[in-house]
Amino acid sequence: MRSGILAIATVGLLAAGGLTGCGGDPDDDPARPRPKIGVILPDSASSNRWEAADRKYLEAAFTAAGVEYDIQNAQNDKARFVTIAEQMITNGVTALMITNLDSGTGRAVLDKATQRGVATIDYDRPTLGGSAQYYVSFDNVAVGRLQGEGLVRCLAEKGTRKPVVAELNGAPTDNNAAELKSGYDAVLQPRYDARDYVKGPDQSVPEWNNTTGGTIFEQMLTQTGGRIDGVLTANDGLANAVISVLTKNKLNGKVPVTGQDADAQALQHILAGDQCMTVYKPIRKQAEVAAALAVALARGERRQTEHTFHDTTGNRDVPAVLLTAQPITRETVKDVIADGFVERDAVCTGRYAALCAANGVS
Ligand code: BGC
Repeated sequence: MRSGILAIATVGLLAAGGLTGCGGDPDDDPARPRPKIGVILPDSASSNRWEAADRKYLEAAFTAAGVEYDIQNAQNDKARFVTIAEQMITNGVTALMITNLDSGTGRAVLDKATQRGVATIDYDRPTLGGSAQYYVSFDNVAVGRLQGEGLVRCLAEKGTRKPVVAELNGAPTDNNAAELKSGYDAVLQPRYDARDYVKGPDQSVPEWNNTTGGTIFEQMLTQTGGRIDGVLTANDGLANAVISVLTKNKLNGKVPVTGQDADAQALQHILAGDQCMTVYKPIRKQAEVAAALAVALARGERRQTEHTFHDTTGNRDVPAVLLTAQPITRETVKDVIADGFVERDAVCTGRYAALCAANGVS
C-alpha cells in the first residue's frame, strides 16, 4: 500500500520526463502558452514548514523542471489570499496550486481559476466543495494515528496510572485537523472507554495560532488544577507553545507532548526530553509530486493517481496522491537530519550539541 502510493508519485514524475524526452520540448508548442505555475501558501506562523520547507522544495522542483513560477504567502489573510490568486490569474499562470486558509476562500479562488481555464491543485489542505483537479498531501488520518500511538508509548514509559490526556487540536477550518483527530482519537478513545485513560480538556485552536494555543493550554492546566499527564498536540508550533507553559510550571519533561512537522525546534525539544515525539512528513517528496502534476496539467496532460480524496461537501472523489509519514522520537531524530530536511547545525547548537552526540546525530 505504502510503496504503491510512492510508486504512483514516481510514475507521475517519470511520465512527465518521458514525454519531454521523446517529443521534444513540449513547452515549445506555439499553440500552448508556456507553463507558469502559481502557488499560494497559507501563512508563516502556524508552522515553520511553509517558508522553511515547502517554498524551498517547490522552488527547487520548478527550477529543475525549467518552468516559470510565482510562490506567494497569504500571511493568514483571506482577502490577501484572494487578491494574490486574482493577480496570478491576470498574470497568466497556467496552473494554480493552493493551501487554503479555509474552504470558503479556497473554493472561490479555485472556481475563478477553473473559469479562466487555469489548472488547479489543492496542496496539503483539501478545499471542501472545491473544484481542484488534484489533491496532494499525506494520509492525515495515519499521521494522527502515529501521534496517538506516540503518546501512548510515552505515557507507558512514564508509568503514569490512569493518565489525564488533554487534546489540543488544529484549526476547525482545516480538514486536515479533523482527519488528524479522527486518527488519534481512534487510538485514545478505546483507552478512555476502558478507563485506562481519563479524558481531559479537548479544544481546537483557531487558525493553528501558536500564541492562542499556549493560552488555551494554560487555561486547561488551571481548569484541571494542574492535573494533565499528557498532551496530544496537533503540530510542532503548538507543541512549542505547550512546552513553554509546562516549563513555566516546572512540568516540562514530566508531561509528554506530541507534534508534527519535525521542525528544528521540535527536534531540540525531543532531544531534551520535553517533547515526546513528532511526525516527519517528507515535504520534499510532496513538493516534487505536486510540482510534477502542476507542470503536466499546465501542458494539458493528465496523470493517473491510485488514490482519491472523498470530498463530503462537494460529494466528489478528487484524484489524490497521499504520501506516508514517519514518527520521530529521540532515537530517530538523526533520520530527519540524514534526509536533509533539517540542517544538523540548526539542531545541534549550544546545550544540544552533547544531546546530538549522545543520540547519534552526526
Ligand atoms: C498541515 C500541517 C501544519 C498545519 C499548520 C496543516 O494543514 O498539514 O503540516 O502544521 O497545517 O500550518
